[in-house]
Amino acid sequence: MKTDLNTKSHIEKTNLNYILNKDELSKDEMIFLLSLSDDKDIKALFNRADEIRKQFCGDEIHLRGIIEFSNYCEQDCVYCGLRKSNLTLDRYRISIDEIINTARKIYSAGIKTVVLQSGEDFHYTKDDITKIIRAIKENCDVAITLSLGERSFDEYDEWKIAGADRYLLKHETANPKLYSALHSKQKLEERITHLRYLKSIGFQAGSGNIIGLPKQTIEDIADDILLCKELDCDMCSFSPFIPSPETPFKDVPAADLSLTLKTMAVARIVLKNVHIPATTALSTLTPEGRKLGLQVGANVIMPNFTPDEYKDKYRIYANKKTYDPIIYVQELKQMIYSLGRKIGEDKGHSLKI
Ligand code: 5AD
Repeated sequence: MKTDLNTKSHIEKTNLNYILNKDELSKDEMIFLLSLSDDKDIKALFNRADEIRKQFCGDEIHLRGIIEFSNYCEQDCVYCGLRKSNLTLDRYRISIDEIINTARKIYSAGIKTVVLQSGEDFHYTKDDITKIIRAIKENCDVAITLSLGERSFDEYDEWKIAGADRYLLKHETANPKLYSALHSKQKLEERITHLRYLKSIGFQAGSGNIIGLPKQTIEDIADDILLCKELDCDMCSFSPFIPSPETPFKDVPAADLSLTLKTMAVARIVLKNVHIPATTALSTLTPEGRKLGLQVGANVIMPNFTPDEYKDKYRIYANKKTYDPIIYVQELKQMIYSLGRKIGEDKGHSLKI
């Protein structure tokens, strides 16, 4: 990625400690931090992000069990393996009953948030999703996060009333031109309108970006963090691009690990009291990814509970990590304790409410 060539920071290196300890950072200061290249400087950035994570989020790591219930998608996002034009992908839809049963498994594993994610699949009607939300809430004492793409405001209203707590809708990139180039049918403005609406009706809202998209600059990444701030997001996910075969970006290199970690760290320093996940994409980029993420500002992990027969098919990108969730949660707990951290015991709601 040629990002460093496109933007310049005017800040002297000697100012690093001063900047890391400021309450509010300017965009130029964020670009300066994102552009750090000296190992010692990067370590100082990571340490400061970890301190701020501790101050605003404590040592608890919140687990969110995710069910990827459909890989059908009406959208054609250039980077994504689920894009409609990918005719090679074996598509699946999980029945309402199986979704509800999977949510029960998440609850039995001691996890207090169920994330329902799918491609943008209108086969599941407003009433279907309402039925799923109601049944999960009746059977399990969990928070529910929806991640279904852009749906109608009327649907958001009804799902909120049915008991859904949170909605994830990443803005993907805050650069409107890049956004339009990547999403032929969608506009950034539209996505932002949805995010604002979701917040206005009481959803805890999640947004975030993909790092390492072609033509993305360091300035764009600073804008991604600033957009999350402006939208007052409760959850923010900054995850690395990983190429997906059968997409136009199949030969684009994966995101740079260091830039991904620097983005998470700067996001923590700027956004402070938000939930930031150590994503599956990060652990796909490098085996120790989740552990590294937890050390640079992240406080959330989302173990995948998609039933075995489907999970290989939710192929957003190549080599997506799959595992047995029960064994994985055990291993995760050991890793979390080894970092001197704890598992969150409550639902881990927004730190802003
Ligand atoms: N690399 C990394 N993340 C991706 N997503 C989609 N395609 C890719 C990719 N190739 C992310 C998007 C989306 C989330 C479900 O997956 O950010 O919001």
